[in-house]
Amino acid sequence: MTEKTLVLIKPDAVERNLIGSILVEYERNGLKVLDMKLINASTEMAEQHYAEHSGKPFFNRLVSYLTRSPLVALVLKGENAISRVRALNGTTDPEDSQDNTIRALYGLSMAENTVHASDSLESATRERSIWFS
Ligand code: CMP
Repeated sequence: MTEKTLVLIKPDAVERNLIGSILVEYERNGLKVLDMKLINASTEMAEQHYAEHSGKPFFNRLVSYLTRSPLVALVLKGENAISRVRALNGTTDPEDSQDNTIRALYGLSMAENTVHASDSLESATRERSIWFS
């Protein structure tokens, strides 16, 4: 099924000039960029994005990280885009990510893990409305 998914190239990646290196991974794998923008995320946007983690011990840290400097939000389209993009990104913890995944290549830590991608059709719809309203 053709799907659209929401990806964030997070502040740690933009700070290290990795936007191009990350986009190459998606485009080489046949995913189409449908929409893209550089954003200074507000606290409200970050809190909405991480709503499911509200109340967890690392929630405030996640929100300050996502708002500390610009991020790139993009919508990618392709066959089974949601699972394919998550496979390209690798596991949440870069230490456990398979070789050649984006997080294994560039991730710094569990919190500063370089990229985000929606985990389901529902979250893709919800997250797209936060970043591209
Ligand atoms: P992401 O895929 O953007 O979605 C939720 C984020 O929560 C995840 O990436 C991690 O960056 C972060 N996260 C999950 N678990 C932890 C944790 N134990 N400590 C810090 N950050 C976490």
